[in-house]
Amino acid sequence: MFEINLRSERIIIRPMKSTDLDFFVSLRNKCVAYLHDSRKFSLSDAKRWFKTTNPQYFVIEFEGSKVGYIRTSAWDLQNKNVYVGADIEPKYRKKGFAFEALKLFIDFLLREKKFNKVSLEVLDFNTPAISLYKKLGFKKEGVRRHHVKKGNRYVDSLIMGFLRADYLK
Ligand SMILES: CC(C)(COP(=O)(O)OP(=O)(O)OC[C@H]1O[C@@H](n2cnc3c(N)ncnc32)[C@H](O)[C@@H]1OP(=O)(O)O)[C@@H](O)C(=O)NCCC(=O)NCCS
Repeated sequence: MFEINLRSERIIIRPMKSTDLDFFVSLRNKCVAYLHDSRKFSLSDAKRWFKTTNPQYFVIEFEGSKVGYIRTSAWDLQNKNVYVGADIEPKYRKKGFAFEALKLFIDFLLREKKFNKVSLEVLDFNTPAISLYKKLGFKKEGVRRHHVKKGNRYVDSLIMGFLRADYLK
């Protein structure tokens, strides 16, 4: 994997470290209603997860404060595809941070690292996230019907993708 440290005038995106895990747990636990994995983590769960899976997560910082993080998974270097997502602290939402951070991150992958595709999955009721992803240029590719159980109901998961070819248009 390559080093990812990005910055714009407003934000910094840098790899998540073990010292960020208290921030990560606190934010993730506030977001579980919108995530495919509904389990809440304790700090010791997160430490174990971090050590055993070496996740590629990236903290978004604004004026020295952590405002959120970008999640990545399923890095496929052969097919040049990767899955992304982002969670933002409630008090920093609707200020453009997720859009700005994901745009920087996706630009880096598609332009500099010559990735062919960025993918994601989002629960179908998550209107803010779906609007965000559409605004970034993602297109709907399909639906995994009743893919996730939330409380006592099953919900659909939308698959979305952003192609290098779309990006270069
Ligand atoms: C979804 C989420 C990441 C958006 O982060 P954010 O920093 O508030 O988003 P931004 O301010 O960058 O907004 C960019 C676009 O997203 C959409 N958007 C963001 N919040 C929205 C809301 N509450 N309602 C409708 N659209 C919304 C809009 O299209 C917005 O563009 P606009 O400002 O021109 O209307 C944030 O709400 C969040 O962390 N939610 C909980 C966790 C989650 O759902 N994560 C994604 C799981 S896949």
